[in-house]
Amino acid sequence: MTGSTETAAVLVRMALPADAASLAAIHVCCFARAWDEAAMAQFLGVPGCLTLIASTREHAPAQGFLIARAASDEAELLTLSVLPARRRLGLARALLAALVQELRRSGGKRLFLEVEDGNEAALGLYRSLGAEAVGRRPGYYEHGADAAIFSLAL
Ligand SMILES: CC(C)(COP(=O)(O)OP(=O)(O)OC[C@H]1O[C@@H](n2cnc3c(N)ncnc32)[C@H](O)[C@@H]1OP(=O)(O)O)[C@@H](O)C(=O)NCCC(=O)NCCS
Repeated sequence: MTGSTETAAVLVRMALPADAASLAAIHVCCFARAWDEAAMAQFLGVPGCLTLIASTREHAPAQGFLIARAASDEAELLTLSVLPARRRLGLARALLAALVQELRRSGGKRLFLEVEDGNEAALGLYRSLGAEAVGRRPGYYEHGADAAIFSLAL
């Protein structure tokens, strides 16, 4: 992705190393076991990892982000989070649209998305994109919940 893309009122851009602290600040608002700034900085340096940031205004602080990893023509979404106060504004949809565009551009054919059972927001989002449930990982999460695996043809 070069520059940034705008979907409706959402601006999406590629993350920079200087964004690591903002990413960690969002993640801690969204997950009980959040990734810290050092972990984010590592992802930002890994070849094949794609980190996209969304906000509702140009130059506004990051309000949501995703990290995906691509290998050959397949990719997986590693994390996706939007600040609680900025949800239901289309940020996650815009982030995934930009990811799909970027993966297609580089020859990607399939994106795998994983979600905890009962996470209705993510399930609703993935289904609304046309992703299909293709498998389950029983007891995948530390607290014992199952993971549902979705696949999106690119
Ligand atoms: C899942 C999450 C990323 C969605 O972010 P968001 O920016 O609010 O999502 P969007 O506004 O782009 O919503 C797009 C679509 O997803 C679905 N959706 C989003 N939130 C939903 C909810 N609470 N319940 C049901 N469907 C929902 C809807 O289809 C929605 O479209 P609509 O608003 O036109 O109905 C956000 O709720 C979040 O950060 N949750 C905590 C972290 C998480 O669970 N991440 C995903 C697993 S890694």
